[in-house]
Amino acid sequence: MDAFCVPWADFPLPVLGFGTRALGGSSEWSGPTGEEARRLLQRAYEGGIRFFDTAPSYGEGRAESLLGEWAHEVGRENLLIGTKVGLRRTSEGHYFSDLRPDSIYREVERSLRRLNVEAVDLVQIHWPDPRTPLAESLAALQTLKDDGKTKAIGLGNFHGKRLREALASSAVMDSLQVPFHPLDRRIEGGDLPLCRERNLPVITYSPLAMGLFSETEPEELCQSPGHARHHLRWFGEAVRPAVQNLRSRWRSYAEDLGLTLSQLTIAWVRQHPGISMVLLGASRESQLRENLGGGLPIPKPVWRVLRKDLNQWQQETKQENRAKRGI
Ligand SMILES: NC(=O)c1ccc[n+]([C@@H]2O[C@H](COP(=O)([O-])OP(=O)(O)OC[C@H]3O[C@@H](n4cnc5c(N)ncnc54)[C@H](OP(=O)(O)O)[C@@H]3O)[C@@H](O)[C@H]2O)c1
Repeated sequence: MDAFCVPWADFPLPVLGFGTRALGGSSEWSGPTGEEARRLLQRAYEGGIRFFDTAPSYGEGRAESLLGEWAHEVGRENLLIGTKVGLRRTSEGHYFSDLRPDSIYREVERSLRRLNVEAVDLVQIHWPDPRTPLAESLAALQTLKDDGKTKAIGLGNFHGKRLREALASSAVMDSLQVPFHPLDRRIEGGDLPLCRERNLPVITYSPLAMGLFSETEPEELCQSPGHARHHLRWFGEAVRPAVQNLRSRWRSYAEDLGLTLSQLTIAWVRQHPGISMVLLGASRESQLRENLGGGLPIPKPVWRVLRKDLNQWQQETKQENRAKRGI
């Protein structure tokens, strides 16, 4: 697997990382717990993964605890842990962003306790908080770094103007985590070139659009009513025929290369210049095994065909939507 170097890691980081959102299970994402979860982490490690992404909200804290327990078994020095801060929940279960300095310090202390570590490798802002001045939040992150609670600090879900504003701050950011998959290519415009120019590692998430670019059919992915997928418009009935059309075209490109749809999609994502790492998601060993097969490059001409195909699909979908709305 290709790797890249960052000052906050003692070894080159493989281009594929593992995301623990499914671990610990919750109303929004059913996933493995206990021994099954530990086995999944172990398989990721054996597959060459060294960066593990987590967050306080994953499995309502259980993902961090499971990861922390397992990390001690495998040897903390052999892997890197990145967690997040700033996504909180009301007692009714609604999410909100809170990046006030006191809240940041409190949340990170709790994460360290759950992970059972003195320090993590990376603390990332989960989502921007429009109500707290950005400079205050970034200064708090810098304090965590200066105090040795984390080796590195990063942004998450920052785009466009907000990203530029954060990068202009005196707190030096070490990474940016953003979504990137065939249906969300927002970063391609200006953000990715900007990060390349700044030498800022970009870690992308949801390479399969939460599983949509896998062999599992969309209807099956949306069966449980409270699932996180219901927040994404790609899973809505209105766009389903267009998405299905793209999926089936990409599946045939994948077959031509002897790959599965998820392997082709992961390979396509990782091959974008400026993307340092792709976070894989999986709740089963079989999914992880399959997705690790997306770590190899696809031939450049095929990559270009996929890009062209996607651009054309986007144009057609836009035109169809406008026609439907009578514009
Ligand atoms: N910073 C953020 O705001 C943010 C947001 C989202 C994610 N992330 C991070 O990025 C990681 C990856 O994102 P993601 O989970 O959305 O990735 P993804 O690869 O787009 O979706 C993963 C899900 O798709 C299904 N899946 C994966 N591989 C499959 C396969 N080969 N065959 C069939 N189904 C398959 C599984 O769903 P089932 O579990 O239902 O089977 C799996 O949990 C997360 O774990 C998290 O660490 C960060």
